[in-house]
Amino acid sequence: MAWALVLGASSGFGAAAVRAYARAGYDVIGVHLDRRSAAAQLVELDADIAGLGRSFLRFNINAADDTRRAEVLASLSERLPAGSISVVLHSLAFGSLVPLVAPKGKPAVTRAQLDMTLDVMANSLIYWVQDLLRAGFLAEGGRVFAMTSSGSHMVWERYGPVSGAKALLEAHIRQLAVELAPWRITANAVLAGVCRTPALERIPGADRLIQKAEARNPYGRLTRPEDVAACLVELSRPGTYWLNGNVLHIDGGEDVSG
Ligand SMILES: NC(=O)c1ccc[n+]([C@@H]2O[C@H](COP(=O)([O-])OP(=O)(O)OC[C@H]3O[C@@H](n4cnc5c(N)ncnc54)[C@H](O)[C@@H]3O)[C@@H](O)[C@H]2O)c1
Repeated sequence: MAWALVLGASSGFGAAAVRAYARAGYDVIGVHLDRRSAAAQLVELDADIAGLGRSFLRFNINAADDTRRAEVLASLSERLPAGSISVVLHSLAFGSLVPLVAPKGKPAVTRAQLDMTLDVMANSLIYWVQDLLRAGFLAEGGRVFAMTSSGSHMVWERYGPVSGAKALLEAHIRQLAVELAPWRITANAVLAGVCRTPALERIPGADRLIQKAEARNPYGRLTRPEDVAACLVELSRPGTYWLNGNVLHIDGGEDVSG
């Protein structure tokens, strides 16, 4: 039985991936961090996966917390056999959207904000992969994916801390692609186009970002979570085993369009 682990499973790209992997016959482990206000959308997600006849183990925790991660892994060890996780998707959105510098009297990013952003949006990938590997959960021939954006190499207003996290995440993926090769596990970053999700709505000036993306995208529309989820499922099939260490643009050509 193949399992997919989705970090950031309750919304946006992560939730679409949960549904797509379940539709493709995977059982799914979902990690997310939500308040009670998200209850209705979680009930809907649970029902969709149950309706597909797949198992869905969902954990509402801070994915960057070492203790919580250890608890999830302990819980999984009671239910999953070794080598059963074929896909790990890192799709966490939890960063500080503040300027790196500001005039006197105005706030600029603090050390705590920068550390938290890099920890959740980049370094947490390493700690999950380390522990999953040590516990023997990762399947030979498996896939690690991490969500990045054009903001890894482009300046967006107040996106500095997240931009740094994206560049770091891409570096982590590059390194993992090589270090995981002995286990025959590939690692690729997925550069998604601009997409209407709660994370995007939080970016100051999101409306301008959306307008620009719609104008630049050769397909004349924004990326949808389902566009990316469909590609992820295809990229998880055995025939793509030689695709490793890339930043894959899943954006309809938006990033390369002038
Ligand atoms: N929306 C876009 O335009 C866009 C474009 C390219 C890349 N991305 C990237 O895609 C990824 C997902 O973003 P999204 O737009 O789908 O966001 P979203 O807000 O729809 O979903 C974010 C998910 O992360 C979870 N989460 C946040 N912090 C967490 C934590 N500490 N522990 C556990 N779960 C946590 C939330 O519960 C939610 O499930 C992010 O890395 C984002 O930077 C987004």
